[in-house]
Amino acid sequence: MADLVLQEAAALLGRARRVVVFTGAGMSAESGVPTFRDALTGLWQQFDAQALATPEAFDADPALVWGWYEWRRDAVRRARPNAGHRAVAAIEARVADTVVVTQNVDDLHERAGSAAPVHLHGSLFAPRCSSCAQPAPVPVGAEREPVDGRRITPPGCARCAAPVRPGVVWFGEGLPETALAAAVEAASACDLLVTVGTSGLVYPAAEIPQVAARLGATVIQVNPERTPLDQVAEVNLRGPAARVLPALVEATWGATGPA
Ligand code: OAD
Repeated sequence: MADLVLQEAAALLGRARRVVVFTGAGMSAESGVPTFRDALTGLWQQFDAQALATPEAFDADPALVWGWYEWRRDAVRRARPNAGHRAVAAIEARVADTVVVTQNVDDLHERAGSAAPVHLHGSLFAPRCSSCAQPAPVPVGAEREPVDGRRITPPGCARCAAPVRPGVVWFGEGLPETALAAAVEAASACDLLVTVGTSGLVYPAAEIPQVAARLGATVIQVNPERTPLDQVAEVNLRGPAARVLPALVEATWGATGPA
């Protein structure tokens, strides 16, 4: 990544008064959490997503779907926030009006110090009743042994006894209205949006950087690859988030202590 491009991005971040940091699976890649579309390691390559991430799949086999998400939550628990997550928290500490909007269902932004990321696709740590939507406690670990290496019978809702489901958005489901409204409001009001580690392929989430650009914000993209968001990005920082974001924070405000 050329130093000139980094300096240009640092000048934009240093002048920004209202920032949105919009993140995708690439944000957590260097924490060992697989992205969706990376060949071989991608989550969808290992599993038939349609067989696991849909309401119909849960209705047909709650234990299979619940077991998969328990496996993903345990993988996230074993992961650690990376220097990119910490750099996002450093931006929030420097620019008071910063909103983190994430498509990720892990809790790595929170564990790196981001106060209240907007989870457009829900969270592995927000299970709820599949019937009455009552929030359910997050299992502390693999409380129930997988029945056949993958199936884990989901707990019953404390209020209505229906099966508890993962609190994530499935194919064919709408995004949480409150989260989407907050993300659109932040994107509409910001003067800088930094998009990190997303292929920009999945709507309506992928609309967020475009809303910001349409309403006059400057967009910086952090991604080792080209994406459709290259069209709206004024600056493209080609590289991995855990290296690029700390470099951007340092170029903007000087060394900010341990990365
Ligand atoms: P993808 O897997 O589609 O894209 C990951 C992006 O991260 C790609 O553009 C990679 O080039 C980039 N990338 C990989 N490693 C990176 C790194 N170390 N640093 C920075 N970028 C890196 O994941 P998303 O765009 O997040 O939806 O996918 C969006 C949605 O599609 C997900 O939230 C999920 C999926 O269907 C739901 O679950 C509803």
